[in-house]
Amino acid sequence: MIIYSVGLGPGDPELITVKARRILEESDTVVVPQSDETGRSVAREIVLQYIPEERIMMYYFPMNNDREELQRRYTDLAGKIKGLADSGKKVCYVTMGDPTIYSTSNYLTQKLLELGIQVRHIPGISSINAASTMLSLPLCIKGENFGVYEMPSEVEKAVELIRRHPTTVFMKVNKRLPVLVEAVRAVRPERAYLVRRIGLDGETIYDMLNCAPPPEAAYLSVAVIRSKILTGHKK
Ligand SMILES: C[S@@+](CC[C@H](N)C(=O)[O-])C[C@H]1O[C@@H](n2cnc3c(N)ncnc32)[C@H](O)[C@@H]1O
Repeated sequence: MIIYSVGLGPGDPELITVKARRILEESDTVVVPQSDETGRSVAREIVLQYIPEERIMMYYFPMNNDREELQRRYTDLAGKIKGLADSGKKVCYVTMGDPTIYSTSNYLTQKLLELGIQVRHIPGISSINAASTMLSLPLCIKGENFGVYEMPSEVEKAVELIRRHPTTVFMKVNKRLPVLVEAVRAVRPERAYLVRRIGLDGETIYDMLNCAPPPEAAYLSVAVIRSKILTGHKK
């Protein structure tokens, strides 16, 4: 009994792997987490490009920090998936980007393993890679490291993180956009971009050294900040 945890990539239908597509097409049931920060399920829209609606099973995860409620939901979903697999169905579970990065898949996998179910992960192109390649900015070159963080709530912390690496990536900016704007203003890095809805309708790049992004830019967006620029790398 193997359940697949499939990364869907950032949203562009051409940025899903051949393997992920095959697993979707071969599955009897594709479990899709319901709702993202915008209140819609972007994952569902992507999956619908490959399989008919009848094979999709939506599952709701509340967007709050009630850990107990979330644990209950993961346990419940793992049980439902086990039930489907026990009845002979091929089941996969999808997440945006890569399943190992800030993903519900990480928690669900744990619950499935506890039930004795094997989980095989199919990597997806993460929004981190999609953003840096879209901007043609290096995440790191020889001798460097880069940092990926959830957007902190304090400007001082954000400043410290930006100064810690040649490239810093902030995810889940959301309500903390003003913190990001303040931190970029304080550090004045070589490059600072907020990339919104990569591969989806409304995709936008905001050059934060020219203007502060509007409030709606904060949702489903990744900030890429580069303090050291390579010779010849033009804006
Ligand atoms: C719950 S995390 C999921 C990350 C995902 N597993 C990945 O590998 O990209 C959600 C965050 O990922 C980023 N994200 C995911 N998809 C995105 C997209 N299409 N465009 C921009 N940012 C995205 C945003 O920072 C968002 O707040």
